[in-house]
Amino acid sequence: RAPHRAGPECGGEGAAETAGDALTAAPFLPPCTVTVLLWWEPFGRPRRTADCRRRYNITGCRLSADRSRLGEAQAVLFHHRDLALHGAEGLPRGPPPRPPRQLWVWMNFESPSHSPGLRGLAGLFNWTMSYRRDSDIFVPYGYLYAPPAPRPFVLPRKTRLVAWVISNWNEEHARVRYYRQLKEHLAIDVYGAWGLALAEGGVVETVSAYKFYLAFENSQHTDYITEKLWRNAFAASTVPIVLGPHRANYERFIPPDSFIHVDDFPSPRLLATYLKFLDKNKTNYRRYFAWRKKYEVHVTSFWDEHFCKVCEAVRAAGNQIKTVQNLAGWFES
Ligand SMILES: *[C@@H]1O[C@H](CO)[C@@H](O)[C@H](O)[C@H]1NC(C)=O
Ligand SMILES: *[C@@H]1O[C@H](CO)[C@@H](O)[C@H](O)[C@H]1NC(C)=O
Ligand SMILES: *[C@@H]1O[C@H](CO)[C@@H](O)[C@H](O)[C@H]1NC(C)=O
Repeated sequence: RAPHRAGPECGGEGAAETAGDALTAAPFLPPCTVTVLLWWEPFGRPRRTADCRRRYNITGCRLSADRSRLGEAQAVLFHHRDLALHGAEGLPRGPPPRPPRQLWVWMNFESPSHSPGLRGLAGLFNWTMSYRRDSDIFVPYGYLYAPPAPRPFVLPRKTRLVAWVISNWNEEHARVRYYRQLKEHLAIDVYGAWGLALAEGGVVETVSAYKFYLAFENSQHTDYITEKLWRNAFAASTVPIVLGPHRANYERFIPPDSFIHVDDFPSPRLLATYLKFLDKNKTNYRRYFAWRKKYEVHVTSFWDEHFCKVCEAVRAAGNQIKTVQNLAGWFES
């Protein structure tokens, strides 16, 4: 395996020069500046791309949505939703042929339940990028980190009990079924398209007045833990009540005493009883914030952070060759 060779010891400007070379040729030197081409702008919405160095201290990156750079790009990024929309015919086909060193990266932040068209993508991509921990480029919706000197945590004033923000209401979803049972025993303030109005960008402030937040995912899948936990609950300094993958899966990412899982209770009624107990017992309620002595919350920002991460990963990559053969099988597992 080749050592990591970013820094001064870097090669030419583009991958194009290696196009057509035998893979066994002279050791591959990554170029000083990596070009990442966004084949589609996510959801067809053009946006200004970030300066990775200024925002994330990631140097040597050029992000571009200009397809005329296809030949020189070290990596090409394909957003699954747009790929599903355009079909595999929308992929670059050449000529010129695909440079053997060029990395095609499949990017998806929706769950398998909301990712149509996964079949037929076998053997096309070199890397995956998603919220799954076993992706080639793992970008979670958020994470905890332990700063050398964490800011002292101040619990916001709590005047209300349970909040839920939901935009995509679907009676078939486990989360709606659970909500319907829970609300029989406890008042829940519902915000979003189907409930109370929420000021644009006002989720965190609104939710911070609540003791609990229903961080209910739209579907239940491995590692699928979204901004509903990271931003709506943690960034709002409230206690998340989660419905998503099983508790052990959450515990891979967050402390066991930082959240309440619906599976911790045999019924919604018993969960409601416990929440009412915590509402009256400050000592027990405050235990859900003990981890804040050590950790702070990072909420990942779409899409700049994702694009810059790709660039960082390409720069750090050695010269291994890889193809994702069973994309659907892996992502759905
Ligand atoms: C930026 O990255 C460089 C090299 O990776 C590191 O030495 C430096 O401390 C980083 N600066 C900041 C502000 O994090
Ligand atoms: C809170 O609960 C604990 C048991 O965990 C109990 O010892 C304590 O007296 C309760 N405090 C109040 C104010 O009810
Ligand atoms: C990327 O995948 C393609 C298609 O399987 C393959 O031909 C190529 O060698 C791979 N390149 C790298 C750098 O892994």
